[in-house]
Amino acid sequence: MKILHLISSPQGEASFSVKLGNAIVNEIQSAHPDNTLTTHDLTATPFPHLEEAHLTSFYTPEEKRTPELVEAVKHSDEAIAEIMNADAIVIDTPMYNFGIPSTLKTWIDHIARAGKTFSYGEKGPEGLVKNKKVYLAISSGGIYSEGFMKAYDFTEPYLRAVLGFMGMTDIKTFRVEGVKMPGLQETALDKAIQAIEL
Ligand SMILES: Cc1cc2nc3c(=O)[nH]c(=O)nc-3n(C[C@H](O)[C@H](O)[C@H](O)COP(=O)(O)O)c2cc1C
Repeated sequence: MKILHLISSPQGEASFSVKLGNAIVNEIQSAHPDNTLTTHDLTATPFPHLEEAHLTSFYTPEEKRTPELVEAVKHSDEAIAEIMNADAIVIDTPMYNFGIPSTLKTWIDHIARAGKTFSYGEKGPEGLVKNKKVYLAISSGGIYSEGFMKAYDFTEPYLRAVLGFMGMTDIKTFRVEGVKMPGLQETALDKAIQAIEL
């Protein structure tokens, strides 16, 4: 079992999403003693926002790329190789302003590539990243799994849509929520960890 663990909170060891993500990784490792783990902290080595050179490179055939364009596509090629190589992908994400942090969005912008991770055929779009198990570890100050704030959650629905578009449809979500709410914050992490079921 090859595990890829992606971190997108800048809060290091204090991060709730990282703590939950680590607990998910531990569960996977216990279930699959024969495993390798690659951890990628997207805040420590951030992906660049897409610039003209990246886009030009994406749409230029490999043999026609200039040295500048070869350099520009490296982040994307490496990130795609990482997900293609993984069996299980654990994505830790805080909720920022109802969505995912820009560090994680930038990573997505580099992996969502026509001809590499999805294609358009006669039957419409087809995801090319298949046979992956994806686990989302989402942390939020409030509660979004139920109640009136559920409509404000653009983390899980967005990740399910964009990852699913690329073929990653086997997705489980775990949430540590209410971490800013007195009365809930004290037990939020324990509750989230206890709810982990692979
Ligand atoms: C910039 C920023 C934006 C945030 N936006 C929201 C939000 O929209 N809704 C919410 O419930 N919590 C919000 N929070 C609280 C975080 O989701 C919460 O503290 C979470 O635990 C952060 O993840 P981490 O502990 O993994 O770093 C925000 C926090 C920050 C720093």
